[in-house]
Amino acid sequence: MSTNHHTPSFSSKVGLILATAGSAVGLGNIWKFPYVAGENGGGAFLIIYLLCVLIFGLPLLMTELFIGKRSGKSAFGAFRAIRNNSRWQWLSWLCMITAILIMGFYFVVTGWCFHYLIAAIGHVFRGADAITLTEHFQSLTGNLPVTFGYTLLAILLTAAVLWFDVNKGIERLSKILMPLLLIMMFLMAGRVLMLDGSNVGMSFFFQADFSKITPQVVLAAMGQCFFSLSIGMGALITYGAYMPKSQSISATSLQVVLLDTAVAILAGVIIFPAVFAFGVDPAEGPQLVFVVLPAIFEQMSFSWLSSILFFSLLCIAAVTSTISLMEVAVAFVTDASSHTKHPINRHKAVILVGVIIVLMAALCILSPTIFGWFDKISSCWLMPLIALAMALFVGWFINKDDILHEFGSQRGWKHHLAFVYLQIIRYFIPLAILAIFLNGLGIW
Ligand code: PHE
Repeated sequence: MSTNHHTPSFSSKVGLILATAGSAVGLGNIWKFPYVAGENGGGAFLIIYLLCVLIFGLPLLMTELFIGKRSGKSAFGAFRAIRNNSRWQWLSWLCMITAILIMGFYFVVTGWCFHYLIAAIGHVFRGADAITLTEHFQSLTGNLPVTFGYTLLAILLTAAVLWFDVNKGIERLSKILMPLLLIMMFLMAGRVLMLDGSNVGMSFFFQADFSKITPQVVLAAMGQCFFSLSIGMGALITYGAYMPKSQSISATSLQVVLLDTAVAILAGVIIFPAVFAFGVDPAEGPQLVFVVLPAIFEQMSFSWLSSILFFSLLCIAAVTSTISLMEVAVAFVTDASSHTKHPINRHKAVILVGVIIVLMAALCILSPTIFGWFDKISSCWLMPLIALAMALFVGWFINKDDILHEFGSQRGWKHHLAFVYLQIIRYFIPLAILAIFLNGLGIW
C-alpha cells in the first residue's frame, strides 16, 4: 500500500476506517495501556488520558488524515507537495526516525505475543499461578536467542505482507477480526468481574485520586494517547492519502477514536480486577498483562480454546499495527530515493528497512533500558512534537478556506465546528503540548 501505487488499496469507506482502526488498535491498547495506567495511579491516569483523547486525539487525528488526503502522498512527500518547497522536510525525517524507534520495541512485544500464542496452543499455563507466570515471563525475556527468534518471526511476517502487497486481504480480515476481538474481550471482562475481590480493581481503575496527578502522569497520559491512536509519525498520512474525496475525515476520525478508546478501557476492565484478585502489583511494568492474561483464561470455561483465540487475535491486532509502522518507513525509503541516481524499489526498501529494524530490536532485547528509552522518547516526546508541528502546519500554512471547506459547509453548525477546530489546532493544541513538555521537564 505505497502511495507510489496507482490503484487505491481500500475497497470501501468501511475498509479505510477498518484499516485506520487496525493501525490504531494494537498492543498500545491491550499491552501498554493497562501497564502505564497501573504505573501511574489507575483512575487518575484514566481521567487525564480521556481528556487527552478528547482535546488532542480527535483534532490531531483529523489533522494528520487531512495532510494525507490533501497531498495524496506518504509522510515523505506530503509536506513538500502541499507547500511546494522542502522547508518542512525535517518533519518527514522526524516521522521516519520515530517509526524506526517504535518498531524497535514494538516488534519485540509482538514476538512475546507469538510466544504466548504458541504456549497457549501447548496449554503450558494449565493451573499456573501469578508467581509461576512471572517466572515464565522472566525466563522468556532472559532467553535472548528465543526472544530474538520470535521477534524475527514478527518482522518477517510483516515484511512478507508488505512484500506481497496483501494489505487488502488484511483489510478484509479486519472486518471479521475486529468485532471478534471485541466480543472476546467482553466475555473476558464478564468473567473477571465475577472473581472475588474484583471490585478493588474496578475502584483502582475508575476512582481517581487527584493527588496522584503529577507532571509525569500527565506526560505519560499524553504520550499514551498519541501512541494508541498512531498519531504523530506519519502512518495516518498514508491512510489519508487513500481516502476517497467523498469520505468525511471527521466522521472517520470519530469512529476510530471511539473504537480505540473502547478497546483500551475494556483492556483495563479485564486487567485490573484480575490484578487485584490474583495479588499482582498493578505497577509491575511491561510484563503486567502477560502475567495476568493466562491466569484469567484458567478461570474461564473452554480455557484452552479461549486462550488460543485471544492470543491469535492479539497477534493479528499487533501485526495490523506493525504493517502501518513499517509502511511509513518503506514508503519513505522508496519516495526519498526516487529522485536520486539510485532509486530503491519497494522490495529492496522492505529488505533495507527490515535489516534496520532487526538491529534496533536486537538493542531492545539486549537492554531493557534501551527498550524503555525508545518507548518513552517516541511516545512522550517525538510523537507529540511531530503532531504539534503538524497542527501548526495545517493551522497556519494551509489556506483557511480550504480547511473550512474540508471540515464544514458554507454555514450552519458544521461551519462553526470547523472554525472551532481551526482555533484548536492553531492556538490551543500547540500551547497545551508545550505546557505539558515544560511541565514534564520541570521547567514550568
Ligand atoms: N497505535 C498502535 C497501537 O496502539 C501503535 C502504533 C503507533 C501504530 C504508531 C502505528 C503508528 O498499538
